[in-house]
Amino acid sequence: MILRHFPPMGVYETLFKFAAATSKYMGEPGTHPWAQGFPLTTQLPGGPTLPDRVELTAADLKYPTATGNVELRRAIARYYNEFYGAGIGEDHVAVFAGGRPAIFATLAFLEDDTTVAVEETEYTPYWDMLRLLGRKHRLIASNPENGFRPDLERYDEVAPCDGTSRVLLLKSNPCNPTGIATTGEPLARLVELCRGEGRGALFDEAYEFYCDPEPDSALRYVGDIDATDIFVVGAATKGLQVPGLRVGWAIAAKRHVEVFRNWSSFGMGGVSRASQLYVADLLRIERVRHARRAVSEFFSGQRERYGRGLRDLGFELFTGSGGFYHWARLPGTLTADGFNERLFAHDAAILPGSLCDMARRKGADCPLERFIRFSFGPLPPDSFDGDMAILAKCV
Ligand SMILES: Cc1ncc(COP(=O)(O)O)c(C=O)c1O
Repeated sequence: MILRHFPPMGVYETLFKFAAATSKYMGEPGTHPWAQGFPLTTQLPGGPTLPDRVELTAADLKYPTATGNVELRRAIARYYNEFYGAGIGEDHVAVFAGGRPAIFATLAFLEDDTTVAVEETEYTPYWDMLRLLGRKHRLIASNPENGFRPDLERYDEVAPCDGTSRVLLLKSNPCNPTGIATTGEPLARLVELCRGEGRGALFDEAYEFYCDPEPDSALRYVGDIDATDIFVVGAATKGLQVPGLRVGWAIAAKRHVEVFRNWSSFGMGGVSRASQLYVADLLRIERVRHARRAVSEFFSGQRERYGRGLRDLGFELFTGSGGFYHWARLPGTLTADGFNERLFAHDAAILPGSLCDMARRKGADCPLERFIRFSFGPLPPDSFDGDMAILAKCV
């Protein structure tokens, strides 16, 4: 084979195992997609409608511009200025085909003398990206001992690996899988730590709207972004409920956005114009204000309801106040893989915690072997009782 082998990202690994065991695709009607990271793509209770069409003219069928179309870049800048006083313009915005490509591009173009600092328990594909790109990295302890909540000093203590001289923090906030959200004063302090000489950060805010009581963003605290190596990645995937449109973005210094534009010019060719038009419409200020409130309210209710249900079944919860996952340790001695074997018989599955281990330890060596990520993102309001009945049978 001429291609170097590379395995699928953890969530997909679980999807393939599920398909092999059940002959079904997780997410299709009748399955219980608790392993998956997609949100409901229907109108939320009290939320705005989702348009069912986008109008195109011949001009829209031309190649899109490499950095992203100006209507969308302006809408994104306006959004961050309105809600966080970010003080940015369209030149600080690069559009990508989803959040992951924005993260991947940032990591790909880091200077070789950069160490990536990443929490021990983090978003599964970070591990694949760091490995594929051969990035030197250091782990910040985030495990049952510290409740998956590293102290701020731990971020400051990360020293560059041999042969490197600077450190870039890579952090999902709210965190996938734990739901722990760093907001307000602690976020302001973290941003401050990442602004110093030889420091930078990529704040991955895919779950920004999913936060109780309300969303926050590093962009509230960054100040003059042109004076930093701070990147804020967002996406239409979760908050705007349109994962299928494949629109994400990076907010960064103009000099960094230029690199992303150049990358797009030879490596991506821009992002579907139809998708960009659709998302620009979703970002109209009054609509997006409505969406932020509805997402936060509906999913905070779901977080609480499923939290209570899981606790009653003996799960030990470590979940924070954000995201749409519960992060929990199984009762007794059951492992997450063993639990999934039982769930498959009911066309259900969770994401085994070990797939969020940035050291990817195996079996009993992995501190997350008995942890699960339970997703309530795709679940309609009326599925709760049925979900709990299956969980009760399998635990
Ligand atoms: C932490 C985190 N970042 C980014 C993304 C972006 O995903 P996408 O590439 O689907 O926009 C996701 C989606 O699962 C995520 O969980």
